[in-house]
Amino acid sequence: MYICLPDFMIELKDINYLSTKMLDESRQGEAFAGTAEGKSNNGKYFYIESYGCQMNFSDSEIVASILHSEGYGATRQPEEADLILINTCSIREKAEQTIRNRLKEFRHVKERKKGTLIGVLGCMAERLKSKWLEEEQLVDIVVGPDAYRSLPLLIRQADDGRKAVNVLLSREETYADIAPVRLDSNGVTAFVSIMRGCNNMCTFCVVPFTRGRERSRDAESIVAECTSLFEQGFREVTLLGQNVDSYYYVPPQGEPVTFARLLEKVAQISPLLRIRFSTSHPKDITDEVLWVMARYPNICRYIHLPVQSGSNRILQLMNRTYTREWYKAKVDKIREILPDCGISSDIIAGFCTEQEIDHQDTLDIMKYCRFDMSYMFMYSERPGTLAQRRYKDDVLPEVKKRRLTEIVNLQNRLSLESNRKDIGKIFEVLIEGNSKRSDADWMGRNSQNKVVIFPKNEKKLKPGDYVNVKIHDSTQATLFGELVNE
Ligand code: 5AD
Ligand code: SF4
Repeated sequence: MYICLPDFMIELKDINYLSTKMLDESRQGEAFAGTAEGKSNNGKYFYIESYGCQMNFSDSEIVASILHSEGYGATRQPEEADLILINTCSIREKAEQTIRNRLKEFRHVKERKKGTLIGVLGCMAERLKSKWLEEEQLVDIVVGPDAYRSLPLLIRQADDGRKAVNVLLSREETYADIAPVRLDSNGVTAFVSIMRGCNNMCTFCVVPFTRGRERSRDAESIVAECTSLFEQGFREVTLLGQNVDSYYYVPPQGEPVTFARLLEKVAQISPLLRIRFSTSHPKDITDEVLWVMARYPNICRYIHLPVQSGSNRILQLMNRTYTREWYKAKVDKIREILPDCGISSDIIAGFCTEQEIDHQDTLDIMKYCRFDMSYMFMYSERPGTLAQRRYKDDVLPEVKKRRLTEIVNLQNRLSLESNRKDIGKIFEVLIEGNSKRSDADWMGRNSQNKVVIFPKNEKKLKPGDYVNVKIHDSTQATLFGELVNE
């Protein structure tokens, strides 16, 4: 499966337990490969790759579950598959280009093995709809993010040589009743989708058009899924949504469930289950959420809080609905209630009309907030978005590039400073698996989401164990330490 990532995203290091393959070196976290293997009951096999956000990764696990119920097995080799699926991302033009190239490669696989069906899922399917079949003729099946239940029917239609498209968006679909099949799992960490869609309408963003209106998943089904994961041995869940703080579920009976309440319910499953969430919108994250985090040590001290820009004028053009002062006050509040909380961000360089003074405001807010990590992008105009309709993409590519470089260089410095400060500290680390570099070392993560590498020594430890590690060295991306007995 391939994964890349937007608002709600992960880095390569987050999923290094997958059989990973970097496709786009320009951005950490943009594209990964991993596939799954599993038995077939109908003699047929599917192959799936995902690009984009954690949400896509999580959706692919729902798709795998639907196909599994139809008797399909999973294969890691596209050449062996009867059905090749690609779960797509539209967030930037480059992601779409990568996917188009990959589809052309699959086309060659199909030429060698007649009868293989190729399906495109997710955001690009939604954006390009039946154009895929009519103009591009690269694929046989097109399924939008709310239509995965119709996949078995669409496969039958495509097998009969008929047009197989379903890109209907829904106001209700949350796939609450489908138990995801965990693909490429490390058995320790898992994603759990809690809501779908987005109502925010940030002007640069295609997501509200490709994933539709916001809807929250039944709270009980979320708690049940997390409980079941814990019982299977998982020790960390990441609650996923484009804007988790606006989670709001009204059950048929009883009180409405807010995000703060949901966090609390999941945290109560077991003190041994870590909880993470992504993504938070600065306008929606409440003090109540911060206080719940403070009460439960198993809710990780880490918030991904995309700022996008430090300039009030640009923030307004982006329709982010907060000012730099509001954002800084949120960060102050987080540090007041959760002094040891890690904070990361998303930043866009070169949005429409951005001047040097706006760019300086972005560098300035980064320094003020001392982000531990950021995902940084050049603005990429997306068809159909409000920005594309209203504003001119008028910052020259070389200016965008230079500003992005300055942002990246500053973030590298901030990340290094943040990691240097951890030297000498002792962290509780959840072991996820072997270090990529050496089987003699474990790789795990602390509550702040930092990767920690430490020697295995003679102790009988395994993935899923919690250990205390004293940090003695760091780079900008990683902490290095030794086990300590405490
Ligand atoms: N151009 C560049 N970056 C974008 N993002 C979303 N849309 C665009 C775009 N058109 C970034 C934002 C968002 C992250 C997931 O991707 O920073 O938070
Ligand atoms: Fe995130 Fe804004 Fe896009 Fe919604 S519209 S997914 S909040 S960037």
